[in-house]
Amino acid sequence: MIYGLANSKGGVGKTTIAVHLAAWLARKKRKVVFIEADPQQSASAWLAELSLSIQLERISQPESIFRRVARLATDADDIVIDGPAGLSPTTRAVMLCADRVFLPCGPSILDLDAAGRAVEVLTKAQKTRDGEPSGYLIPNKLQKRARLSREMLETSQTMGIKVLSGLSHRQSFADAPGQAKVVWQMGASAFIASHEMQQLMKEMTRG
Ligand SMILES: Nc1ncnc2c1ncn2[C@@H]1O[C@H](COP(=O)(O)OP(=O)(O)O)[C@@H](O)[C@H]1O
Ligand SMILES: [Mg+2]
Repeated sequence: MIYGLANSKGGVGKTTIAVHLAAWLARKKRKVVFIEADPQQSASAWLAELSLSIQLERISQPESIFRRVARLATDADDIVIDGPAGLSPTTRAVMLCADRVFLPCGPSILDLDAAGRAVEVLTKAQKTRDGEPSGYLIPNKLQKRARLSREMLETSQTMGIKVLSGLSHRQSFADAPGQAKVVWQMGASAFIASHEMQQLMKEMTRG
């Protein structure tokens, strides 16, 4: 399965979710390749420190993504692609080679607008590929009691994209890279974060 994380915006949780997904799949004894397609390379150091058997590849040229993914797919069980911010040719390449594309989205109107633009690019990719890839919005940094978060859930449901249960805004998610861990390795203080993240991982890998 080829999983792509993308969005037109940075800071929405692509890398956080991509690294957790790769760690989750590796824990299930799957042979995982992580493709860092973001020139900012914020995943590499974190991933290396997790000491899991995940193969890391850094690719930023769109044509190289196609070529490498096609070759790696013959050997790996799963490929996780952490995309850059923006609707660049690289983001389009991710959408053209992934089986599932996930768009994390923060709880602001600006984030929602950005996700809407990413959904348009996704829809174009689906038209050229007989409906592939399947697309999912991941509401992130949710503050359940805030009005905008509720608005966000409602708006996202009208965008014509499946919406996963998402993640709350929690310090444990932000602390994980600094502790060189994923949240389910962080003990009691990250109990709820861990529960939310594992629920999300089940939804992302289902079926
Ligand atoms: N649910 C969350 N709660 C709190 N902080 C979060 C959450 N998700 C992501 N973050 C933090 O927000 C910042 C941006 O996340 P990141 O995954 O790097 O986004 P992107 O890859 O889309 O740029 C990071 O500092 C990350 O730790
Ligand atoms: Mg990132």
